[in-house]
Amino acid sequence: MSKTRKLLVTSALPYANGPLHMGHMVEYIQTDIWVRFQKLIGNSCYYVCADDAHGTAISLHAEQQGITAEESIQQINKQRKQDFNEFMVEFDLYSSTHSEANKQLTTEIYNKLQTKNCLTVKTISQAYDTEKQMFLADRYIKGDCPKCGAQHQYGDNCESCGATYQASELKNAYSSLSGTAPVTKDTEHVFFKLSEATELLTAWLTTDAVPKEVRQKLFEWVNAGLKDWDICRDAPYFGFEIPDMPNKYFYVWLDAPIGYMSTFKTLCEQQQLDFNEYWQPNSSCEVHHFIGKDIINFHCLFWPSILTNCGFRTPTAVHVHGYLTINGEKMSKSRGTFISARNYLDHLQPEYLRYYYATKLSTSIDDLDFNTEDFAQKINSDLVGKFVNIASRCAGFITKKFDGKLATALPETMQQFYQQFPQAAETIANFYEAADFAKAMRAILALADTANSWINDAKPWVIAKDPNNDMQLLQQICTVGINIFRVLAIYLKPVLPQLAVNVEQFLNVSAFNWEDSQELLLNHTINKFKPLMQRIEPEKITAVLDASATPIVAAKEVSKPTIEPIAATIDINDFAKVDLRIGKIIEAKNVEKAAKLLQLTIDIGEEKPRNIFAGLKSAYTAEQLQGRYTVVVANLAPRKMRFGISEGMVLAAGTGGKDLWVLEPDAGVQPGMKVS
Ligand code: MSP
Ligand code: ZN
Repeated sequence: MSKTRKLLVTSALPYANGPLHMGHMVEYIQTDIWVRFQKLIGNSCYYVCADDAHGTAISLHAEQQGITAEESIQQINKQRKQDFNEFMVEFDLYSSTHSEANKQLTTEIYNKLQTKNCLTVKTISQAYDTEKQMFLADRYIKGDCPKCGAQHQYGDNCESCGATYQASELKNAYSSLSGTAPVTKDTEHVFFKLSEATELLTAWLTTDAVPKEVRQKLFEWVNAGLKDWDICRDAPYFGFEIPDMPNKYFYVWLDAPIGYMSTFKTLCEQQQLDFNEYWQPNSSCEVHHFIGKDIINFHCLFWPSILTNCGFRTPTAVHVHGYLTINGEKMSKSRGTFISARNYLDHLQPEYLRYYYATKLSTSIDDLDFNTEDFAQKINSDLVGKFVNIASRCAGFITKKFDGKLATALPETMQQFYQQFPQAAETIANFYEAADFAKAMRAILALADTANSWINDAKPWVIAKDPNNDMQLLQQICTVGINIFRVLAIYLKPVLPQLAVNVEQFLNVSAFNWEDSQELLLNHTINKFKPLMQRIEPEKITAVLDASATPIVAAKEVSKPTIEPIAATIDINDFAKVDLRIGKIIEAKNVEKAAKLLQLTIDIGEEKPRNIFAGLKSAYTAEQLQGRYTVVVANLAPRKMRFGISEGMVLAAGTGGKDLWVLEPDAGVQPGMKVS
């Protein structure tokens, strides 16, 4: 490797509104592998990240837990650091966007943008929830799809027919926070003049910083004409207040990427690094962002424009990955495929997942699948069966027959055979550098295959059986095997850092770096071999999937408001007009040809019982209703129905179907009692 590079690496800042899940881990494991590789080859590399702690989703999450946003983000920060730690994702600093450092830098950047005339104030009309007294982002508005009429669709697209539209086009729109119909209200917002960044972006998008696969999409946006970007939100909002605009806050997506810089700035203070050296224009240091494909607009349009206008350098590269699916399906809470990082860690080894993701990760932005069968197969037959097996086949003989000592020299033929293993270092390093871990893993596995068939042919176990055989040859074969294992462990160290440490202990050597792969370990005493990695038991995978369908997750789903729109208000006098009475069902009959209806004869204390049709058949048989009490709207005007005249209405509560409830027979009520 040539001269030492100076790198700053980031992963997208995960929102502090819920636990980390398997999808997130794709990104943090990917970045961590890349960072560990850079450190292993001797580059200077800092990896920073932080919680993205601002915005409505975060304050709503806190509200649901009944705690303040500050408390909530602190709790989440603590859990996350634990998750990352167990997955061996090693940050040089993990912070939060809700920090003093980030507030300062965001303010500084805002001031610079203002000085550079990059900002403009516009009056916009936005949906407003009069009950919650807040402006509503599109995703908090629901209603009927303007195209197909499906109910309870989100403000930007219809899950039923796939149409996309503006929230204002929804029919019967309501706020998903309060259920009330939103009104439109004017408000003043600050915009970043993205429209003036077209030229700058056109140039930047053709640089190597932007992966080819996403360039076209980004150019589509640029060519369609860039609109100014609203960087402002109205109170109440959890974020940083804009200095010269009372009750206005910076939009979370303004201060989030600044979080990359402010976290690094804090690290610089802690470790006496030069922040400006990394961020000045034409810096010789590198800045690498790893992100998912859903947030390329923020990182490849807004972010470089802001940086350039503020006199900072732009990123060296934005590395983009696809989305994780679980057994071919989108991660979904209701399907039980929403696997939290914690749930995985409760049952399975973190390094299994690190290796599995490594075999799947390339420069492509295609989605990647966590296929549980393939996962078990890759760990059991490839990692354990092929790689770890090399050591277990050779180590025992070295310990038992040679007191742990490796051979002092190798015959020419063995040296020649062995050469291909250290020689692969450069190719594999290039795969790592390109973040094409899938290719790196394939190359390593191919070497393991070569090693195993060589050992199969050399048959050390046959030589060992007969003391008359050439014992020096046995020692040499096993020495080659152990050395191959060692080289492959070095190649895998970015992916399997704990295993590498165990191998270092087993081989009785100091911590590996990449260059060590070029060395041959001879005339050296190794320690007794202990199994380095177990096969996956299939029950453990089942346990993870089962636990993913737990009510903890389900409860959250329910608490997501999906309230029907509330009808126009009525005053108390209107309500008082409804005369509700207790009725006793004295007779219930099926109605011929009616799927849902039962014909009830109900005593409500009058001389003549009422004849009422009620849609209760899904929940009760006619017999079950006989003798039960119910609440009746006694003054509903008689209505002519297909099967006769209905003289009132029966009230039952429930979600429908089997779940509809009338009163119990012993509810302690009398026919004709007024219900209050
Ligand atoms: N807070 C923003 C990022 C701000 S960066 C200045 C955000 N947070 S997130 O929690 O929704 O996502 C964090 C990262 O995880 C993103 O890069 C996102 O693409 C990635 N993933 C989230 N779900 C994922 C999958 N199911 N699969 C793969 N990556 C996923 O976006
Ligand atoms: Zn629709």
